[in-house]
Amino acid sequence: VEPDVVTDVLIVGSGPAGASAALALSTYGVPHIVVTRHARLADTPRAHITNQRTMEVLRDLGVEQEVVAQATPQHLMGNTTFCTSLAGEELGRVRSWGNDPLVQAAHELASPTRMCDMPQHLMEPVLMDAAVARGTRLRFSTVYKSFVQDDDGVTVTVEDRLRGDEYTIRAKYLIGADGGRSRVAEDAGLPMGGQMGVAGSINIVFDADLSKYTAHRPSTLYWVLAPGATVGGIGAGLVRCVRPWNEWLIVWGYDVTAGAPDLTTEYAESVVRGLIGDDEIPVTIKSSSAWTVNEMYAETYANGRVFCAGDATHRHPPSNGLGSNTSIQDSYNLAWKLRLVLDGTASPKLLDSYTAERAPIGKQIVTRANKSIGETAPVFEALDGLSPQTPEQLWANIAARKEDTLAAEKQRAKLREAIAFKVYEFNAHGVDLNQRYVSDAIVPDGTPDPGFDRDPELYHQPTSRPGAKLPHAWITSGTRTLSTLDTVGQGRFTLVTGIGGAGWARAADAQELEIATVVIGPGQEYEDPYGDWARLSEVSDGGALLVRPDGYVAFRHATAAASPEDAERLLTAAVRRILGHV
Ligand code: FDA
Repeated sequence: VEPDVVTDVLIVGSGPAGASAALALSTYGVPHIVVTRHARLADTPRAHITNQRTMEVLRDLGVEQEVVAQATPQHLMGNTTFCTSLAGEELGRVRSWGNDPLVQAAHELASPTRMCDMPQHLMEPVLMDAAVARGTRLRFSTVYKSFVQDDDGVTVTVEDRLRGDEYTIRAKYLIGADGGRSRVAEDAGLPMGGQMGVAGSINIVFDADLSKYTAHRPSTLYWVLAPGATVGGIGAGLVRCVRPWNEWLIVWGYDVTAGAPDLTTEYAESVVRGLIGDDEIPVTIKSSSAWTVNEMYAETYANGRVFCAGDATHRHPPSNGLGSNTSIQDSYNLAWKLRLVLDGTASPKLLDSYTAERAPIGKQIVTRANKSIGETAPVFEALDGLSPQTPEQLWANIAARKEDTLAAEKQRAKLREAIAFKVYEFNAHGVDLNQRYVSDAIVPDGTPDPGFDRDPELYHQPTSRPGAKLPHAWITSGTRTLSTLDTVGQGRFTLVTGIGGAGWARAADAQELEIATVVIGPGQEYEDPYGDWARLSEVSDGGALLVRPDGYVAFRHATAAASPEDAERLLTAAVRRILGHV
């Protein structure tokens, strides 16, 4: 039977994973279609923390400025507060999301981008509008039903919800970006580890002017330790800022074994009132929904010509803000590989590196996010508040910390320590930036794995060793100051070298694959006036780095090649290996 529609890539889903896959593929000129269930993009805020790595991806895809213009800036994100209610007692704060002076410096050194808070209902239109402007064909109200694959492609049956009928789309590759209940991942039989439904949680979206309680301690998150706050959920009650200071989202737990409560407006209002702690503030409830905390990850991200990305492959709570970040990074990893395989430059073997590179990251972030929930318990413990018999007892325990006794001093210290430990959730710069890949699309250079000098979850450590992303350094070109990251990407491979690297540059030109060449040094197209690049590059002036379209170093030669022939031989072998031709 002839398919009704034919394309190169079919993407199911228009969330962060699907929309960013569409944006990357449209930027690279790969024909594709997106089908998505609803007649709209996300209608609630959902994921929001947008980390530096994602901002680098968005910078390369040309939408960074638009995101910055709409997002809440970093300096309004950072006073993560623990309190008994917004109007109640404050128990302590963590300087978060790069707002601790030392971490802020680390952020500035690590990347040309800044973290921000971009709620999902604002992020999706930015990604999708740009994708459609560049050629994405987007079909709303269209539901994925099933697929059949053969050696040449995938035939997908979809349902048109407007007409009520089904039709087929024939694609060379299928991307399942259909979220935490992915049908595509299920139909592809992707093996999953972990479990779903670990705890119950409710999101309540509402409008209220809370500036009285928040503007003086600007933050994305206010954690509430109140009676019932340890039942289910994500560690405590959470008041999350959607737009400062009048759009909000509350996360409140429920006992998953008892099932979700009836989400009436009265119920939502009672939860909101409890967490605000001031009944005089007018509140307008906009929506409530129940969801579960999951701890599940796919061990393989692909089956033949079917690839999954985003929550389809990693399902975890919002702790550490990794959901949409990881989803966008998955798609960015996959898109350039699909392009090179589709245009015949690379062997389909290149696509195996997608699972090899992204599955370990998925597992890591699922584990990290769930661990963060558990790390809130010591805050309650410090107040003897994990399971108080009555609310009065909890309040009495909390009040006890103000006493002039040795026991109270100990309690104060324990509380400070427990709150400070939450940096692993709110300031985990290493989790955001230290993703290093091992796969056949990375050519080892024989150097030992440098590992990490400091805690790899908290601290970013750049390296140019193959498998790491290119270190960021500010360099110049004429009067322009730019990041080394700005010289790579744009869908191309880039060879980065210096004075003495002419052999490498010629070798790059001789490849069948398009490779841009960047020469950094005095009198060259790019200069290194601060010496930052020289300090970070880990290669001598005549050495070379081959950087993939996603900004990852795929090949490194620390010194000049012995001869121009040698440069060509080494680079050709590396390119063949990366593209899966050996
Ligand atoms: P996502 O779920 O965003 O997108 C899936 C897409 O596939 C949607 O467009 C959907 O309509 C479509 N789809 C699904 N099945 C389909 C089918 N059969 N046919 C066609 N289309 C189909 N994270 C966080 O960090 N903080 C938070 O507060 C929240 N809150 C939150 C609330 C709610 C209600 C949800 C659902 C999720 C969150 N999250 C969150 C999680 C966060 O939204 C999530 O990590 C990312 O959106 C993942 O992006 P994906 O693109 O992978 O999936």
